[in-house]
Amino acid sequence: MAFPVFMFTFFQTSLVAAQCSKPPVIFNFGDSNSDTGGGAALLGGPFVYPDGRTFFQEPTGRFCDGRLIIDFLCESLDTKYLTPFTGAVDRNFSNGVNFALSGSGIASATAYPFPLNVQILEFIRFRNRSIELCSRGHQNLLGEDDFNNALYTIDMGQNDLTYGYKHRTYDSFVKGLIPFAISRIRSAIQDIYHLGGKNFWVHGVGPLGCLPQELATRNGSKRLDKYGCISEMNELIKQFNLELDVLCQQMRIEMENSTIVYVDVYSIKYDIITSSSSYGFEHPLMACCGYGGPPYNIDPVIGCREASQSVCPQAQRRISWDGVHYTEAANAIVAFKILSTNYSSPPLPFNFFCNTPSC
Ligand SMILES: *[C@@H]1O[C@H](CO)[C@@H](O)[C@H](O)[C@H]1NC(C)=O
Ligand SMILES: *[C@@H]1O[C@H](CO)[C@@H](O)[C@H](O)[C@H]1NC(C)=O
Ligand SMILES: *[C@@H]1O[C@H](CO)[C@@H](O)[C@H](O)[C@H]1NC(C)=O
Ligand SMILES: *[C@@H]1O[C@H](CO)[C@@H](O)[C@H](O)[C@H]1NC(C)=O
Ligand SMILES: *[C@@H]1O[C@H](CO)[C@@H](O)[C@H](O)[C@H]1NC(C)=O
Repeated sequence: MAFPVFMFTFFQTSLVAAQCSKPPVIFNFGDSNSDTGGGAALLGGPFVYPDGRTFFQEPTGRFCDGRLIIDFLCESLDTKYLTPFTGAVDRNFSNGVNFALSGSGIASATAYPFPLNVQILEFIRFRNRSIELCSRGHQNLLGEDDFNNALYTIDMGQNDLTYGYKHRTYDSFVKGLIPFAISRIRSAIQDIYHLGGKNFWVHGVGPLGCLPQELATRNGSKRLDKYGCISEMNELIKQFNLELDVLCQQMRIEMENSTIVYVDVYSIKYDIITSSSSYGFEHPLMACCGYGGPPYNIDPVIGCREASQSVCPQAQRRISWDGVHYTEAANAIVAFKILSTNYSSPPLPFNFFCNTPSC
């Protein structure tokens, strides 16, 4: 059980390394991977204990037993967790806003009506009102400089790609879905840039073909790789990520003075799954919270948030929390690796936007 000690140590280190010379402001756009409670406030939601068990000791609207990657990234800057845009009781937007909503996609093919372009519209409206009210002296809001110097993080695509993989042919996925999704991300970044934003942080999509939920419900004719993940699905995700990386390269050139960091989250997550024991994990393809036991602990009817689920005793030994989302322990390692800059292009530290010396 040396592993939690290791985690504790590396966050102490990164915290000291990454403080800002001015208070950081972050606007996040995404889905359940970075939803810190917006979806739960707006749409209700299935959250029950054991969600939150490891860290918050209560469900917070995060699909996790504890903190998400975005929470750890905020901790690294010594700033508080991002306040969800929707429904927050205790609103304090002084360090930014989280527009991420569970179930959202880049496009609107998925169940919930908050795709990326709607999140951008919410942002535009928020920016307008915040600047107006801030200039009249309202507290806990942000002014124009804050918007211009903020970091804009985008972590989206998992729902589009999961849904697309089930409902589209290979050709329509590659020639239709991917270019469309990439064009939507281009528009989102352009909209923010035209309003003065210049710092962007874009996450690729993880290896969805290794998710217990996907494995348990896959078409039996799909080939698995030597680690037990769905090869074809992961190849399609890699193609999406490749085009997202290329988009970021193009936009860095097109948008003068912009900084766009693309992070290869796929490689980080695939490495954790395929070398799971070296990180202290066991059963990398099995959900901690689910039903039915091995191989995936996923049942088509009884999910993690049903009364009769079963939960593994030690979530810190598991990668998958509920079959779709990662545990806090896995999120901590993903965040640690993101902060290493080893997977970023260009290899800038996460605090690049807040650590320019002030004059
Ligand atoms: C809002 O958050 C900022 C930064 O953490 C803090 O300084 C401020 O006191 C908070 N405002 C309220 C009303 O809690
Ligand atoms: C907010 O919107 C109003 C009405 O469209 C406009 O007049 C104003 O300039 C906008 N303010 C900002 C800060 O964009
Ligand atoms: C599984 O895949 C095979 C071959 O592509 C296809 O013929 C079959 O209809 C699929 N089954 C389901 C349930 O989707
Ligand atoms: C880029 O930065 C330079 C130097 O600060 C400035 O003169 C120029 O106007 C900026 N360009 C844009 C498009 O913001
Ligand atoms: C980052 O890369 C360096 C050099 O290859 C390596 O020493 C370090 O362990 C890596 N860090 C992480 C978190 O992967």
